[in-house]
Amino acid sequence: MSKIPFGPTYDEMLNPSHVDPKIRKKALAANPEELDPVNLFNITWKNENNEVNKIVLPKELTGVDCNIVVLLGKYFPSGSHKVGPAYSTLIEGCVDNTIIPGKHTILGPSTGNFGIGVAYICNLMKYDAIVIMPDNMSKERYERIRRYGAELDLTPGTESDVILTLERTFKLKENPKNRSLAQFELLPNYRFHRHVTGNSCIEAVKGIGNGRIACFTSAPGSAGTLGAGDQIKKAFPEAKVVALEPYECSTLMNGGRGQHRIEGIGDKMCTLIHNVINTDYIALVKDDDCVRGLKVVHDGLDILVENGVKKEDAIKMKDMFGVSTICNIIGAIKMAKYLKLGPNDNVVTIATDGFDRYDSVIQDLERRYLETADYVLSRWFKDVFRKIGEEDIVDYRTDTQKEKLFHQKEKDWLKFGYKQEYLDAMRSMDFWDYEYEKIHHYDELIKKLRKE
Ligand SMILES: Cc1ncc(COP(=O)(O)O)c(C=O)c1O
Repeated sequence: MSKIPFGPTYDEMLNPSHVDPKIRKKALAANPEELDPVNLFNITWKNENNEVNKIVLPKELTGVDCNIVVLLGKYFPSGSHKVGPAYSTLIEGCVDNTIIPGKHTILGPSTGNFGIGVAYICNLMKYDAIVIMPDNMSKERYERIRRYGAELDLTPGTESDVILTLERTFKLKENPKNRSLAQFELLPNYRFHRHVTGNSCIEAVKGIGNGRIACFTSAPGSAGTLGAGDQIKKAFPEAKVVALEPYECSTLMNGGRGQHRIEGIGDKMCTLIHNVINTDYIALVKDDDCVRGLKVVHDGLDILVENGVKKEDAIKMKDMFGVSTICNIIGAIKMAKYLKLGPNDNVVTIATDGFDRYDSVIQDLERRYLETADYVLSRWFKDVFRKIGEEDIVDYRTDTQKEKLFHQKEKDWLKFGYKQEYLDAMRSMDFWDYEYEKIHHYDELIKKLRKE
C-alpha cells in the first residue's frame, strides 16, 4: 500500500490532549490556514487549554432567560468544522484500502464548506480533488477551494440545487479512478459529529445553568451536525433535537422547494445519514432574517451596546458567525420560547463557520436594501432577534410525522441505488448505535497504520 499521511483518531479529535505531546505542540504552533499536514491534528472543537471554543450569547441579544451556547467552528483548519467530516470520510477510506494515494482522485459534492474542507484535506494528504458545487454560492468559497489546489466542477444554481451536484457526482463516479466523499450518504460524517461534536456539546455546558442540555438546534445541510443530537440524548434523555429549515425551502416539514439565501443548509432532501428517529421538532427560519441578523452582529456594534450588550461581548461575536449561525441562533431563541426554558436551562447550537466567507453576501444585502444606516440596524436588531415568535414549529415525535420523513428519505435515495431494506434498517436506533460504535474499530486501525 502507498504511504498515507495519517492524522488523528476520533478520540484524538474529541480529546486533543490525547495526541502525542510533541505533535500537539507542533500543531498548536501552526497557523490553521497553513497547508501543513500537522494541521490535521487541529481538527477539534478545543483550544490550547483543551476547552471547547464557544460563546454564551448575551441575554440582551437573545431576549430569553435560558443560556444559549454556540460552539465556534471558525477555529477549525480551513475555517469551518466541515473539515472534520471531510477528514473522517477520507481516513476511513484510506484504512479500508478503498482510497489509495496516487491512484484515486477525490470527489467532494458540496455547496461550499465541505468542498473547502475536502480541498484542504486533500492538499494535506496529497490527493487530487474535484469539488462539485453550484455556480451561485459566495465567491469567497470558490477562492478558497482554488487556493487549496482543487479543481472546481460547477453545476447550475444555488444551495437549493444541490441535487444537481449529486447527479453530477453519480456520473463522475463511473470513472473507476474517482472516489466520492459523499457527505450526504456516508456515515463517517455521522460518526464525526456524534462523537466529536456531540461530546463537545456535552462538555461545553459544564458549569453553565444546570449543566445539562435541554435543546439542540441545527439547520441540516448534510445533517451530519444533527448527529451530535444522538449523543446529547444519550447523556440527557430529556434533550429536544430540532432541525431548522429555511422558511423558503422547507423540504422536511412540507416537501416544499424554493431558492433561499442560507448557504450550507436547506438542500431539498432528507439526507441518507439523517437519523430522523431523533428529530423531535422541525422549525422554520426566514432566510433574510439570517442575513440581516448577520449584518447587525457584524456591523452594529453601537446598536448592540445601545441595547445592553456588553461591548467586549459584541466585539467577541463580530467575526465568529456566518449566515447559517444566525439561523441556528434564531432557531435556538424560538425553541427557548416554545419550550418555556428558564435560567437554569441550556440550549446548544453551532456556528459552522465565521464571517470570513460572507463579505460578498453582506455587500449584496446592502445593494438590495440601499440603506443600512444605524437606524435601520436598530430596527433589524429588534425584528430579527427580539421579536422572534413561536410560529412555524412542528412536533415530529409522532409516528405519522416520522413516517413522512422516512418517505422523503426513500424518495430521495432509492433512485441512487440504495435498497429498501437498508433504508428500513435505519428505522431502528440499533442501526445508528452499531454505526457509531465503529469509531473504535477505525481508531485502532488508524493507530496501527500510523505506527507502520
Ligand atoms: C455554513 C454551513 N452551515 C451549516 C451547514 C450544515 O451542516 P451539516 O452538513 O452538518 O448539516 C453547512 C454544511 O455544509 C454549512 O456549510
